[in-house]
Order: sequence, then C-alpha cells, then structure tokens
Amino acid sequence: AALRPVEKPLAGKTALVTSGPTHEPIDPVRYIANRSSGKQGHAIAAALADLGADVTLVSGPVTLPDPAGVRVVRVESARDMLAACQAALPASGLLDVAVCAAAVADWGVDVAPQKLKKQDGAAPPAIALRPNPDILATLSAAGPQRPRLVVGFAAETESVIDHAVAKRARKGCDWICANDVSSATGTFGGDRNTVHLISADGVESWPDLPKTDVATRLARRIAETLISP
Ligand code: CTP
Ligand code: CA
Repeated sequence: AALRPVEKPLAGKTALVTSGPTHEPIDPVRYIANRSSGKQGHAIAAALADLGADVTLVSGPVTLPDPAGVRVVRVESARDMLAACQAALPASGLLDVAVCAAAVADWGVDVAPQKLKKQDGAAPPAIALRPNPDILATLSAAGPQRPRLVVGFAAETESVIDHAVAKRARKGCDWICANDVSSATGTFGGDRNTVHLISADGVESWPDLPKTDVATRLARRIAETLISP
C-alpha cells in the first residue's frame, strides 16, 4: 500500500507546550500553587506528537504520566518554566508552534533561605509577592526567535469572549483558546472543556468536549495552518 504521509501532517515540525500549574516556593518546604491538573496541556502535547510533531512539553508539577513520544522537561516555578521554554527554542531556525496551556502563577515569592519558624507571640510572617515573567507574552515578543504560531489559553468566568479578545491583543499571540471556566462541569482539574478559538479571523465556538477531543481539534487546526501554502 502507498504511504499516507497525510496522517503525520506535522512530521518535521517542532512544537513547545507548557502545561500544569507552577509552584512558587516560600521557603525550602512550602509553596503557593493552583488547581491546574495539566490534563489539557498534556493532551495537546500528545495530540501534536500523534500528528508527527517533535514536541517538547515543559510541565509544572502534575501527577499525570508523561505522554508517549514527547520530550518532557519538569519545572517548578514560573521562572524555571520560562528558562526551560527559552532553552527549548531551536539554536537555528524557528519553532513552528508554541502552545501555552500552563496555569502559570502570576506572582512569586522572595524565597526564604531557611524554613520560616514560629516565634512565641510574634505576628505571622508576611509573604511579599512579586510579579512573575509572562511566558506567553515573552514568546510572542521574541522577535527573530518568535515561534511561527503562538497559542495561549484564557480562563474566564464572565464576558469570556470579550476578555479573551483583549487578552489576545495584550499578549501578542496569534490564537487564544478561551475556556469558559464557569461551566458546571468544572474545567480546572476536570476532564471536559468548553473552548472558543479566537484568532485574527474571529471567534469559533466549540461544543463542550472531553479535553482529549479539544486537544485533537486544536492539533488539527495547527496542522492545517502550518502546512497551508
Ligand atoms: N501565561 C504565561 N505566563 C504567565 C501568566 C500567564 O505564559 N506568567 C499564559 C497562560 O499559559 C495562558 C495565558 O497566558 O496561555 C493567559 O493566562 P491567564 O492567567 O488567563 O491571563 P493573565 O494575563 O495572567 O491574566 P489574569 O490571570 O489576570 O486573567
Ligand atoms: Ca493569570
């Protein structure tokens, strides 16, 4: 039978995916985190690999197994995630697609070098937050190293499309997958997702789907865009 390369439309293409939460250390034993499971980002990495892409998955701490056929780089904090993403950019040539699905902590902590101790009668320690780097915005503004296609997510509970359209402009990315996280099924940690794909062409609303199906649809859309003449 004839070979059917159409089944691996992303063969020879490179992809970077961020997934999971970040952990922002407070001291050697404590951290701030969020409820992201990594399910959506990991499913996207797997779906891109299924279509033949060379995929690097930069993941915060998750309990999921590594997807098959994907290079996995494990990180903890947002700063480490940015460094790992920058290290994953090819030395020559461009990354074809970056998908930022991680729930990156917006703020980190100046880490105490030793475990914070209780002191009799003393007030609880104050935790001062400082802004974290924005990985999606940094990749979108990477100048000559900018990936050909940059895709972000937006978790919104109200005015989902308006907020996501504004977020796309603010971040400078090509597409935003807006999640309606007010849906009764519970997107954070859950198995389903309702997505509106926002691009320069407008808004495409997808039905409520399992996260694996969202990943397959998104990977196919990425393939169509990257291979269209
Ligand atoms: N993101 C990122 N680095 C950050 C914060 C967010 O790469 N430090 C990415 C996320 O992976 C996602 C997109 O930016 O793809 C949007 O994240 P979101 O939290 O919805 O947007 P923010 O700009 O952080 O705005 P806010 O949380 O205030 O809604
Ligand atoms: Ca945020």
